[in-house]
Amino acid sequence: MGAGPAAMAGEAPIDDERKAHLRHLVKQDCGSCHGLTMRGGLGPPITPEALAQRDRETMVYTVLYGRPGTPMPPWSSILTEQEARWIVDLLYEGDL
Ligand code: HEC
Repeated sequence: MGAGPAAMAGEAPIDDERKAHLRHLVKQDCGSCHGLTMRGGLGPPITPEALAQRDRETMVYTVLYGRPGTPMPPWSSILTEQEARWIVDLLYEGDL
């Protein structure tokens, strides 16, 4: 009966509208440091080639909590862990 708080729990699949929003965020916000095509700028390249040498869980953690002492900011206030994981998957696949 109606949409309860369960809809906010964050474990439901990410819907298409939210996915479109997240793709936009990656290009605009992540791209402002990592480059529009993620080949690097202020931040290092986060292309599939660059990430091949990186641990995926560490990358998810980096997106959520940032890298203290560097310009890489934490995103956990606007992204759920599931969303951070989805974004990292996109980066590994180069599917932007
Ligand atoms: C204000 C600039 C800035 C923004 C915005 C930013 N980053 Fe970063 N990011 C950095 C910097 C600088 C580093 C390198 C940190 C270091 O020296 O370890 C980094 C590191 C990373 C790494 C680890 C790369 C590696 O090789 O270890 C990932 C993954 C990453 N960022 C993803 C993202 C994503 C996804 C977003 C958007 C949600 C984002 N970043 C937004 C500056 C930024």
